[in-house]
Amino acid sequence: MIDLSTTYLGHALRSPLVMSAGPLGEDVDAIRAAEDAGVGAVVLPSLFEEQLDIESRDLDRHLTRGTESYAEALSYFPAVGAYRLGPDAYLDHIARVKAAVDVPVIGSLNGVSSGGWVQYARLIEEAGADALELNVYFIPTDLDVDGRAVERMYEDLVRDVCAAVGIPVAVKLAPFFSAMAHVAARLVAAGAKGLVLFNRFYQPDLDVERLEVVQDLRLSTADELRLRLRWVAILYRRIAADLAVTGGIHDAVDVLKAMMAGAAVAMMTSALLIHGVGHLAVVRDALRRWMEEHEYTSIRQMQGSMSQRAVAEPAAFERANYLHVLRSYRQPSR
Ligand SMILES: Cc1cc2nc3c(=O)[nH]c(=O)nc-3n(C[C@H](O)[C@H](O)[C@H](O)COP(=O)(O)O)c2cc1C
Repeated sequence: MIDLSTTYLGHALRSPLVMSAGPLGEDVDAIRAAEDAGVGAVVLPSLFEEQLDIESRDLDRHLTRGTESYAEALSYFPAVGAYRLGPDAYLDHIARVKAAVDVPVIGSLNGVSSGGWVQYARLIEEAGADALELNVYFIPTDLDVDGRAVERMYEDLVRDVCAAVGIPVAVKLAPFFSAMAHVAARLVAAGAKGLVLFNRFYQPDLDVERLEVVQDLRLSTADELRLRLRWVAILYRRIAADLAVTGGIHDAVDVLKAMMAGAAVAMMTSALLIHGVGHLAVVRDALRRWMEEHEYTSIRQMQGSMSQRAVAEPAAFERANYLHVLRSYRQPSR
């Protein structure tokens, strides 16, 4: 019998397949269907800072001087507001989902400042969430704000939220730090029990005919996985936190790669939006088949087996191999 179980944020999961924050998590029936299809845990869509009570917002004690970062946050997802639950409905939703399924349910908060978050983190815990994911979405556009100040803002936010709740907290991060490994270590020191790598920043495009900024949302492809694999492989067992991959998990081989790099769980949104929630069962069955064929009996057995500390060529994850890779490129014959 193949054992797909894993542990994430202190919870025993029957499978490493996790539904990440997205529109499907607003639908209790879709979450039930995900449970039937073998999901290990569900992250609910985020409650956005912009949806919280403005008065309670201690808007950015450290950073927000102009309005750009706030405007940027508002334009995070073009569809913000379209499928979003308000704060009260969000808390009700957590309770309904908890009553409907047995798998761990992870609440999610998305924003940049501490004030409202701490209060809502507590309410999310009270509503029954098994864990909390913090999605810090911040684009520092202020010329006077340096990297250390941004990192400190992340740390303070994580420390404040972790001190306020008893449930484990994971932080969903963007990859755009100059010293990613150091930031990861600092966030774990601030109390994070998990890191979710990586947040996708939705990039605006330009329409040159209409002279308009185009804000459309592109779903991911498996190409996005490589950046995540590298950092999971580098961080595995070097920080005391579980690692989750989000971004580019589309099939069973993607899940295998995430596990071998050292992830505790592999999260999916785009693949489920494209193929439907039933895709989880397809991936789970393909995972089992692959493991049987390759004589693996458990997910735990493969976790970290291709992390930087385990592979024969650790430099493959670093600069050392860059030149070699460039030289190895061959123009396809026409
Ligand atoms: C339509 C849509 C809505 C999303 N909503 C949220 C959200 O509320 N909070 C969040 O942290 N991430 C959100 N995400 C990001 C996903 O959770 C996930 O991290 C991202 O899509 C990358 O994973 P994927 O390649 O499996 O899609 C959303 C993504 C999509 C496509």
